[in-house]
Amino acid sequence: MKKVFLICGARPNFMKIAMVYKEMIELPKKFNPLIVHTGQHYDFELSGAFFKDLVLPKPDIYLGIGSGNHGEQTGKIMIALEKITLKEKPHLFVVVGDVNSTVAASLVAAKLMIPIAHIEAGLRSFDRTMPEEINRIVTDVLSDYLFTTEEAGNENLKREGIDDSKIFFVGDLMVDCLLQNRKKASDTHILKKLNLKKDKYGLITLHRPSNVDNKKRLSEIIDAFNCISKEMPLIFPIHPRTKKMMGKFDIAFDKDIHTIDPLSYLEFLHLEANAMFVLTDSGSIQVETSVFDIPCITIRNNTERPYTLLHGTNILVGTSRNKIITESLKIIKNHGKTGKPHHLWDGKAKDRVIKILNQDVY
Ligand code: UD1
Repeated sequence: MKKVFLICGARPNFMKIAMVYKEMIELPKKFNPLIVHTGQHYDFELSGAFFKDLVLPKPDIYLGIGSGNHGEQTGKIMIALEKITLKEKPHLFVVVGDVNSTVAASLVAAKLMIPIAHIEAGLRSFDRTMPEEINRIVTDVLSDYLFTTEEAGNENLKREGIDDSKIFFVGDLMVDCLLQNRKKASDTHILKKLNLKKDKYGLITLHRPSNVDNKKRLSEIIDAFNCISKEMPLIFPIHPRTKKMMGKFDIAFDKDIHTIDPLSYLEFLHLEANAMFVLTDSGSIQVETSVFDIPCITIRNNTERPYTLLHGTNILVGTSRNKIITESLKIIKNHGKTGKPHHLWDGKAKDRVIKILNQDVY
């Protein structure tokens, strides 16, 4: 039986880990999965609420690292995780996405010569000012099983010299999770609670340091939101980083922007599925909106998920106030882009991952 550390730490990790965990516990003679939570995200809204919605048990191991500068956070995770790894001697690490917990765990595993499976490998924004891009590159170079979500991921890895035999094109576990929870999400009654009607609001998420840590840029983006909200109500579950920076820079919202605390997974999913459009700088939301066929305006200059631009509902608008407003108004008038999900975003990526991990000897 293989003892597997499933590493998670920040909000977008929990859905993917849940998918792997549930598949592994179905095979108790093959896998002994242990959920290892670094504590990178510690607020109930960013962590506990997700465990509840995803019906995940409490983490087997909780490192309680918390916030900090990148080096500090990554280093603290490594120190704590190395100790527990030496004690528990897992056969495999599963790491997901591109957060600091992902790269920290990969470094620990690689140095202890424990194989690493990376879920969501190969994505590249080609923008090394994003901390996630550094985390992706380092994690991929150290990984033994690279599970990719779209063709661009395969191409990026091959170009970087990763051996073909390590690359497995399986699809997207975030989409597996969405498809599994879509119906359950509609039972949250979040639209009613927030007094919203289907297709009659825009949904915002914004938390990238490049957008929210710079006063001029954040003011311009919020000014765009304020302007759009005159035409269409906007709902904004606000990330703690963004809230902190809004206070620090003394930037205010207009009255038609409805800000709320971060939502649980199911509530957010339901709001997303019923929005007229979404304004975001997130990664996964570009994919989720393409699956829901909801227009997505991405407030960034690049994306690591080019499929969503080519075939999905996503457009990149950068961070200029006028561009954000113009594209939003176009959607309010004409309903925006439609798209179709990738054929491998079929809810079965988790089965393909487990099949591969089950076959291989490590
Ligand atoms: C992290 C990930 C990002 C991901 C995002 C999802 C990295 C480099 N970034 O960014 O890729 O899209 O999670 O949310 O790993 N905070 C709280 N409560 C918490 C956690 C954080 O209030 O539970 C506040 C703290 O002030 C902290 C700030 O948010 O300093 C940022 O948290 P951090 O984990 O460093 O990064 P995120 O911006 O959340």
